[in-house]
Amino acid sequence: MPTTAITGSASGIGAAVAAALRAAGHQVIGIDRGNAEVLADLSTAAGRDAAIHQVLELSGGVLDGLICCAGVGVTAPNCGLVLAVNYFGVSQLLEGLQGALARGQQGAALVIGSVAATHCGPDGQPLIEAMLAGDEQQALALANSLGQPHVAYAASKAAITQQARRLAVAWGKQGLRLNVVAPGAVETPLHQASLDDARFGQATRDFVAPLGRAGHPEEIAAVVAFLQSPQASFVHGSVIFVDGGMDAMVRAARF
Ligand code: NAI
Repeated sequence: MPTTAITGSASGIGAAVAAALRAAGHQVIGIDRGNAEVLADLSTAAGRDAAIHQVLELSGGVLDGLICCAGVGVTAPNCGLVLAVNYFGVSQLLEGLQGALARGQQGAALVIGSVAATHCGPDGQPLIEAMLAGDEQQALALANSLGQPHVAYAASKAAITQQARRLAVAWGKQGLRLNVVAPGAVETPLHQASLDDARFGQATRDFVAPLGRAGHPEEIAAVVAFLQSPQASFVHGSVIFVDGGMDAMVRAARF
């Protein structure tokens, strides 16, 4: 039975991924702030270390899969927190659990990015550079001083997508796969919070995918389950948009 750790397993997309992988026969180690096998706060370096330590204990140091799904959106209490969870809460876990994945059977990791990664304008570039340099203090300070939650969110997803693709080159040589799934709007508490927000509600309602609706968490989970399966054994370093056509609508010429 494969063992897969999933961050953000208590809600939304992460909960749907946990259900799909359990149905596919995985033993799931959920990581979240509540209602999970591992309780941890991924917004701090100490919380991430504690999560890694507990996952290694529960898995006996051997993992077959890792899904980094935990994230916060534009309604987070501050912009630094968006980078702390969405970038550092992913990059530190990928690094800390790589050894366990290398000891597993055909280890595969997957990051939940976002279609928003492609909407990061020039304002987000310094944030991306600080994140990719691993300078958490500087990145969070820059994000907080800019004070633009949508830029912080897009930058966090752009940076973690780039980091995953950088890591893919080295991981592939160890036989480890690493992919990114970039959802569009998906009906979850995070998305509902954007709809309910006075600053972002109208823009969120206006940005409708060609399929004419938001996705369901299960529609993301089905793609994640495929990517984690042996059927996807040659899919590596890819960014897969699961967005009802949003990316095609915005960037037809970029692929
Ligand atoms: P959600 O709010 O339903 O679930 C997020 C989960 O992450 C929650 O269980 C939450 O407790 C956990 N989490 C947040 N901060 C944490 C922390 N500091 N430590 C530990 N766990 C923490 O949201 P949703 O929509 O399921 O989001 C999952 C991922 O999908 C996120 O990375 C999000 O950015 C991404 N995404 C969501 C989209 C959407 O429209 N819902 C669109 C594109 C990407």
